[in-house]
Amino acid sequence: MFATKITGTGKFHPEKVMTNDDLSKMVDTSDEWIMQRTGIKERRIANPETEYPSGMAFYAAQDAIKNAGLEPNDISLIIFSVTLPDYLFPNTASQLQTKLGISNECACMDINAACTGWVYGLQMADALIKTGVHKHVLVVGTEMTSAFNNWEDRSSCVLFGDGAGATVLSQNEDNDGAQFIDSILSCDGTKSGSLILKKGGSKSPITHEVLDNKEQFVSMEGQIVFKNAVKTMSRHCATLLKRNNLTTEDIDWFVPHQANLRIIETTAKLLEYPMDKVICNVEKYANTSSASIPAAVHEAFTDGRIKRGQTVLFAAFGAGLTSGAVLLKF
Ligand code: UT7
Repeated sequence: MFATKITGTGKFHPEKVMTNDDLSKMVDTSDEWIMQRTGIKERRIANPETEYPSGMAFYAAQDAIKNAGLEPNDISLIIFSVTLPDYLFPNTASQLQTKLGISNECACMDINAACTGWVYGLQMADALIKTGVHKHVLVVGTEMTSAFNNWEDRSSCVLFGDGAGATVLSQNEDNDGAQFIDSILSCDGTKSGSLILKKGGSKSPITHEVLDNKEQFVSMEGQIVFKNAVKTMSRHCATLLKRNNLTTEDIDWFVPHQANLRIIETTAKLLEYPMDKVICNVEKYANTSSASIPAAVHEAFTDGRIKRGQTVLFAAFGAGLTSGAVLLKF
């Protein structure tokens, strides 16, 4: 068995900033309400002509591969987490493969576990690296939430932002102790209606009526998602700690999904984990779905907060309702 190491990280956020004040000109909301209920100040919005998911992912992945000291052709599998892809098919990973100039015919797949997608991808990549099937796997989380946002629905449009995060996972050949320790994934499909894009799939194709009623956009029951997020993420983190004989004091950094500062604070409180060791950037970028954790990890690793040898815990939740947590030595 091989140990899995995060060898490279990268991120991309579009240049275009949309502030809470900008949003208050579009819907009946205010900077005060959004800050108080979510901790979000602003979000980035992709240019649909160049910054669709594979376009944003390209910049993040290019950096992650370079930071891992690799060439694009060293990658033998791309796992691309995306909720609303470039196309329904072919998959977005194949579009990224071409953009990166990968000519080795590496395997490409998309996964859709919504905001938990990157964490789902990590567990899969770890299993394939551990067992020697792959040596270097690119796991990307990239989301163009502005494409499924209903800009007339104040209860959801204030929450989301666009962005990309990318991570290269490799067989650890450095003998430095970096390794995946444990992970846990879950889904409660009985609550899948609480966060859903109802129309546009095979079951309910787009019709003129759908467009007239603006049903091609996200719909959400915020409080159900909120309660489930806090409960499930804290439970998964506690399980990982318990079954590895660790306490919160052994965790150097907690990087939760960046959906809402209140969700992050409540989860940390339930875990009795100090907020000054929680990585947060939701104020600047809002909820970028499956891009949120890898982008936050890249920021914290680049600015020196997360260091090699430290023990780090990730936790995510999203539509499905999916959830997951990963514990690793960085
Ligand atoms: O990755 C998963 C993505 N989803 C989430 O993370 C969502 C999780 N849920 C949440 O973050 C919170 O439930 C929200 C931020 C969405 C809402 O916060 P809340 O504290 O649960 O508010 P609420 O839904 O209970 O609404 C309170 C009031 C309502 O008015 P009334 O009925 O009390 O008069 C809403 O109509 O706030 C109103 N409201 C707003 N007011 C100003 C809802 N959205 C807005 C808004 N601006 N943007």
